[in-house]
Amino acid sequence: MNNNWMLLVSFSLRAFLFASIVLHTANGDVSYSFPEEMKRGSVIGNIAKDLGLDVNRLSYRKARIDIEGNRKRYCDINLNTGELIVAERIDRESLCGKKALCVIKQELILENPLESHRINVNVQDVNDNTPIFKKDIIKFEIRESAVKGARFLLEEAHDADIGTNSVQTYNLGQNKYFELAVAAKTIGKLYGELVLYKELDREQQQEVTLILTAVDGGTPPRSGTVAIHVTVLDANDNAPVFSQAVYKVSLPENSPLDTVVVTVSATDADEGQNGEVMYELSHAMEGFKQLFYLDRKTGVISIKGPIDFEEETTFNLRIIAKDGSGQTSYSNVVINVSDINDNDPIIIVKSLNSPIPENVLPGTEVGIINVQDRDSENNGQVRCSIQQNVPFKLVPSIKNYFSLVTTGELDRELLSDYNITITATDEGSPPLSSTKNIHLTVADVNDNPPVFQEQSYRAHVQENNKPGSSICSVSATDPDWRQNGTVVYSLLSSDLSGAPVSSFLSINGDTGVIHAVRSFDYEQLKSFKVLVLARDNGSPPLSSNVTVSVFITDENDNSPQILYPSPEGNSFMTEMVPKAAQARSLVSKVIAVDADSGQNAWLSYHIIKATDPGLFTIGVHSGEIRTQRDISESDNMKQNLIVSVRDNGQPSLSATCALYLLISDNLAEVPELKDMSRDESSSKLTFYLIIALVSVSTFFLTFIIIILAVRFCRRRKPRLLFDGAVAIPSAYLPPNYADVEGAGTLRSTYNYDAYLTTGSRTSDFKFVRSYNEDTLTADLTLKKSAVDDLEVLDAEAMRDITSENKVLN
Ligand SMILES: *[C@@H]1O[C@H](CO)[C@@H](O)[C@H](O)[C@H]1NC(C)=O
Ligand SMILES: *[C@@H]1O[C@H](CO)[C@@H](O)[C@H](O)[C@H]1NC(C)=O
Ligand SMILES: *[C@@H]1O[C@H](CO)[C@@H](O)[C@H](O)[C@H]1NC(C)=O
Repeated sequence: MNNNWMLLVSFSLRAFLFASIVLHTANGDVSYSFPEEMKRGSVIGNIAKDLGLDVNRLSYRKARIDIEGNRKRYCDINLNTGELIVAERIDRESLCGKKALCVIKQELILENPLESHRINVNVQDVNDNTPIFKKDIIKFEIRESAVKGARFLLEEAHDADIGTNSVQTYNLGQNKYFELAVAAKTIGKLYGELVLYKELDREQQQEVTLILTAVDGGTPPRSGTVAIHVTVLDANDNAPVFSQAVYKVSLPENSPLDTVVVTVSATDADEGQNGEVMYELSHAMEGFKQLFYLDRKTGVISIKGPIDFEEETTFNLRIIAKDGSGQTSYSNVVINVSDINDNDPIIIVKSLNSPIPENVLPGTEVGIINVQDRDSENNGQVRCSIQQNVPFKLVPSIKNYFSLVTTGELDRELLSDYNITITATDEGSPPLSSTKNIHLTVADVNDNPPVFQEQSYRAHVQENNKPGSSICSVSATDPDWRQNGTVVYSLLSSDLSGAPVSSFLSINGDTGVIHAVRSFDYEQLKSFKVLVLARDNGSPPLSSNVTVSVFITDENDNSPQILYPSPEGNSFMTEMVPKAAQARSLVSKVIAVDADSGQNAWLSYHIIKATDPGLFTIGVHSGEIRTQRDISESDNMKQNLIVSVRDNGQPSLSATCALYLLISDNLAEVPELKDMSRDESSSKLTFYLIIALVSVSTFFLTFIIIILAVRFCRRRKPRLLFDGAVAIPSAYLPPNYADVEGAGTLRSTYNYDAYLTTGSRTSDFKFVRSYNEDTLTADLTLKKSAVDDLEVLDAEAMRDITSENKVLN
């Protein structure tokens, strides 16, 4: 400092020398150079000495510094030393501003004598001011697109000092983007310029703050700083950037409309419009626009149409993001559609053998089923089944194919068609299933023979029937179909009593109605059997047969035949009645037979006319004539009875006969005996009849005696079979008929059957047969065989039929 000051002094001295030269030429003027801002009292120069004035006389001469006008007195004079000293702070800048020469003009006034000298003090600049920027912050807005080398003028800094003490240089703080170029635009004025040497990136650094320092040339130099605030303005230098290069999403098919699939998002580092991103589907994706909706603003992709896995499993969307100024970028959205079990299985019948014959073997394939399911994986795995209660099953064959095979035997007659319900179920969750009905019909095979409704048939025909009348009908059914079940009837040919069966019966092949071909006679043929064949029309036909037993029923077509007495009434025989006969003694018996059977042959006897009606009675069923009372002397010797024999048929038939009774103990007493036999012609027949009757009776009696003897031998206690004197067949009773009168001479359970040849007017008596086998069986060892020996047959056929009847019975 002191050195500096010395320098200045020396400088001032040199100036003084120069000035003193000027002083002398200017006649008494003195000039000083003196730095500004010196302390008060600082000595500028010895003015007394410089002007050659006597120091001791200064006070005397009232030396003083005078100033012009009302200016400040900057200097004063020391009257003791004659030195010019600083009286007031001298600020060059306030005195002279930027003027390069700053001179304070003063006058030294002396009196005694009056003398004036000009004193010029040249104020020299001292670096007492720092450079100052007008603002605290310099603000710049620079677009990031600014190119390298772009220049931005900086405000200059002000320094009140002049010359080298003013701003001499600028410095820029360390930074990445700018450097400083300093240029002097006008003399003495320096301008700084920011020069961009690295492009700005708003996206990297939005603001750059720099420190600019202005330095003056003083010693020591002073400096001032300012902050430069650079705001980087955006330029559309960034394309939108997607958050992902590929968006992978999984989307279940059939997702409802408006379901959000994914939200793509792209960001643009730029600002404002430059950073506003819009999304679009690439034009190549035109087809997908039916299915997906892309929100331009939000990037939300949602469903617009049906998503069907079976149509498309993967979608590849190309999305464009575009910013306000058209910068674009792309991203891909890969949508993998996941399968949902939304397709029912489909059942397809590939082939079906229908109808199937009912005789197919179990395990026969009748159809082929194919199942399909459009879903994938498990959703497309299909299981197939059919209902339980049918004789069919599904057998898996190649993939998704099933054979429908029979598991049992089929019977069309039981079930002729089947509704097979096939159910296909996939393995999705929840599973879907579908069903299909298959209608299978079973074709007929002739496997059933006709079956008669009854095991055997019995037909009853009234004898004397009209030829051609129907007597019964047979019916057989065959469950087979159509001709396999159509039944045709026929008679199995055979012989009946030497004649073909067709001469007896005929059958309607369609209806099974059996007709009589001829008129039957019960008395000749009581029953017979034929075989009827029922045959179906199958090929080969099946048949079965049934027995039809025809029973001819009796009709009252035979009137009773009176065997005794002669029906003609010309019997020469006269019954003798002892005079001593008591009441209820048997006097005679009317014997009659009827070729019919049953009721038609049940005979009853009545006296329709009598000489003395009160004397005799006749057993209604036995035909026994008994006295009603004791014979008295007064009774007429000759008694005539007219007896009527009636059968029980409807209408009943009857025959009459006359009986001549002679009440006498001696035949000789009867002179008119011969008269009594009025009918000569019949006497011969009557005679034979009597012989026959007597012989039969004798035989019968003998037989009974033998039986009794045998019985007697076997058992001590004999059993009386007959209590009557007359042991001839006394009545023709219907089977099991009980004689209610109880007074009969025969056991009531004795029945008789008579077989008579027809067409014989003389009623040839053929045989009489004991019929009550039960009694004999119980009591006798000699049974039927003994009786059978009695049988006499007039025809071979008759025997056949009889034996058949036995079998039947
Ligand atoms: C089968 O189904 C049809 C209609 O679905 C029906 O008319 C028929 O009676 C059924 N048959 C059997 C045997 O169930
Ligand atoms: C009858 O059965 C035979 C096999 O025995 C068969 O071939 C034929 O088709 C059947 N007829 C009808 C009408 O079903
Ligand atoms: C009648 O049927 C039986 C079995 O029912 C059979 O044995 C017999 O041979 C058949 N007769 C004729 C003549 O067909």
